[in-house]
Amino acid sequence: MKSPIFKKSLITSALVAAFLLTGCNDEKAENSTVILKTAFNQSENNPQFKALEDFSQKLEKETQGKYKLEIHPNELLGDQRASLELVQSGAIQLAVIANPLVENFNKNFAVLAMPYVYDNPEHQRKAFTSGILDNLFSSTTSQGFEVLTAYTAGARSMYTKGAAVHTPAEMNGKKIRVMQSDTMIKMLSCMGGTGVPMGQGEVYSAIQQGVLDGAENNEITYNDLKQYEVAPFFSNTRHVMVADLLVVNNTFLTQMSAEDQATFRRLAKASTEVEFDMWNQALDAAKKNAISHGATFTDVDIKPFQARCEKLQSQLLTTPEQKEIFQKIRALSE
Ligand code: GCU
Repeated sequence: MKSPIFKKSLITSALVAAFLLTGCNDEKAENSTVILKTAFNQSENNPQFKALEDFSQKLEKETQGKYKLEIHPNELLGDQRASLELVQSGAIQLAVIANPLVENFNKNFAVLAMPYVYDNPEHQRKAFTSGILDNLFSSTTSQGFEVLTAYTAGARSMYTKGAAVHTPAEMNGKKIRVMQSDTMIKMLSCMGGTGVPMGQGEVYSAIQQGVLDGAENNEITYNDLKQYEVAPFFSNTRHVMVADLLVVNNTFLTQMSAEDQATFRRLAKASTEVEFDMWNQALDAAKKNAISHGATFTDVDIKPFQARCEKLQSQLLTTPEQKEIFQKIRALSE
């Protein structure tokens, strides 16, 4: 049986697709710029939004006004699962989708969001910009989309109501929201708690109503979505650095001229460097704002968590491709 979340996402996709398809032709008729509708589930303050804007400006300039992005933030086009369906169907061209959702199409992506696979942000930046993931990124074309590049979303940590968590034992019995993927559920178990999969938009009220004891995310999203109001205890477990993937509709991409496609691909890849810089710049302010609204950030000894998650790393690496990707990422560690 399909879950209620899945049904809701299908209905949202259908409605949004109908809306988008009716809007599309008029826009094209009015001017000759091709508008690339882009779904984004975070706010305009998010560094990824700003990197996308920068990408759009460069694309418009380098293609003499032929293409530009129209970014729809705040889950306006549905949650990430619904947005990915819109990209697959061609109702929209682009979306930023968290790796765990793309992993539902190809298990090899799981490696990019394994607990403690990157040592630090610099290591992750190297992995995303070195070209080692190119084959993986083009592996989903038969599903109607391709990954153009990966963005950082920092390191994720646990945050809870009631009290901070310091050890895996303190996570025992805690219901923590995770993104909708098996790996994320397993990750939460290895951290000592219970993972409850749901879309980002439902998290605040689920914590408020006591359905959840907390969630896990990066400081920027934590602050932006005001989740400190319902879960003020942020514990720096830094357990996973999830990649966010810029995905594109495959038909749209292959119908571009070779020259435009090359420009488009190059600028999309280059937007990753821009995004990493913007992310680093935004981090402190997000933390300070959350603190000024009552959040406390607690340092945690991550070794016991790492030790518990080591087993999961080997359990998740089942295919030869996964092992190869893992080794390539680890080889970039200093
Ligand atoms: C991060 C990530 C998003 C993701 C969100 C979530 O903010 O950047 O892509 O959707 O976490 O937890 O759902």
